[in-house]
Amino acid sequence: MTAARARKAPQPHGASLDGLLASREIVVACGPGGVGKTTTAAAAAAMAATRLGGKVLVLTVDPAKRLADALGLEGIGNTERRVPDEAFAEAGVKPRGELWAAMLDTKESWDALIRLHAPDARTREEILANPLYRNIAGRFVQSHDYIAMERLFEIHSEGAYDLIVVDTPPTRNALDFLDAPDRMAEFFSSRLLRWLIVPYRSKLVNMASKPFYQVADRILGTQFLSDIAEFFILFQSMYSGFVERARAVQRLMADRRTSFIVVSTLEAVPLREAEFFAQALVDRRLHVGAIVLNKVLPDYLRDPEGALVAQRLRQEASAFSEALAPKVRSGNAAQIRRVLAEIGQSYLDYQLVAQREAEQQAELATVPEALVSVPYFDTDVFDLAGLLRLGNGLWGVAATPQ
Ligand SMILES: Nc1ncnc2c1ncn2[C@@H]1O[C@H](COP(=O)(O)OP(=O)(O)OP(=O)(O)O)[C@@H](O)[C@H]1O
Ligand SMILES: [Mg+2]
Repeated sequence: MTAARARKAPQPHGASLDGLLASREIVVACGPGGVGKTTTAAAAAAMAATRLGGKVLVLTVDPAKRLADALGLEGIGNTERRVPDEAFAEAGVKPRGELWAAMLDTKESWDALIRLHAPDARTREEILANPLYRNIAGRFVQSHDYIAMERLFEIHSEGAYDLIVVDTPPTRNALDFLDAPDRMAEFFSSRLLRWLIVPYRSKLVNMASKPFYQVADRILGTQFLSDIAEFFILFQSMYSGFVERARAVQRLMADRRTSFIVVSTLEAVPLREAEFFAQALVDRRLHVGAIVLNKVLPDYLRDPEGALVAQRLRQEASAFSEALAPKVRSGNAAQIRRVLAEIGQSYLDYQLVAQREAEQQAELATVPEALVSVPYFDTDVFDLAGLLRLGNGLWGVAATPQ
């Protein structure tokens, strides 16, 4: 691919990101694992609170500890917390609105859901106390996906926020969380589930006569089998509530008030997954508001003049090292020569990667309203100042206007 094509890559679109966040009530940051979803979601929410005003919530999943600390989320589970204005002041910014943050506590969210759907107090208490429930709630990945969507639905229906930016869990397949409501509904209507629980007592006896269960019974105790049966029976009583809710969550995802930001890096594997994901969103008629390419190399690396300098540094390292030797306090000319040659070579290597990144960016199949890229910063993003720095990178602005 040529440099000319690479140069046509879209530039950051602060205005379209403002437009996107101002016109939506829910923005979901999704994409492959480890690319910066949590950071991007928090940065976008901080930017919205700063630039657009209103009450903005970022609902995070598993933020790195230092980021959780910075947002005031350490050890507080599901509770929504306002990020204090002092934190913005420290970052040199006066926000127009309020930034709120919450963390997804899967176990706590499951309990809340059971409380909501249980037909009566007794069933509710029995489910919450059931050892199997206590063991699996919050553990298996699918439940994580589902509960993220569920909690979003809950907070959105309470109507306390102008904008909710949602982070998504790291899934093996980025599509998993989109399908989670469907799978939840399927699970509750599945033949397997019905077979397991109707009629439960005789089934238990039948099951207990099968070799597997005989062994299970010996190892785990009869209690285990009755826990399983009881668990499914109790869950069945919540069937309609769950299915209805799963459908409502799905409708909300497809609603005009919701948009998706697909986050990726420009590395081959995540990028392929992100493209596949963006296309899947389009196929499902879900709104792709932006694609964020995170941790990209800076544009200046593609400047041909820079490459010439690097080449000369590498080729003429000897001559340069002699000129530099008197100015460098330690090391001899041979060492200086080696360092200079390495620096030149590294620059050229980076330039190649930057060139390839630009080509990949230009070849993206799904072109959303905004295609933005953010450079790889020299430090992790772990506080409000870091989030706003990343946000300014996203928006393509040098500093946040006050
Ligand atoms: N542009 C950037 N420059 C430097 N570091 C970054 C940048 N974006 C994110 N990071 C860092 O990369 C790490 C991973 O980011 P993050 O936790 O947001 O990814 P994620 O997609 O949410 O991961 P997971 O899929 O595990 O949830 C964090 O330590 C974060 O501070
Ligand atoms: Mg994350």
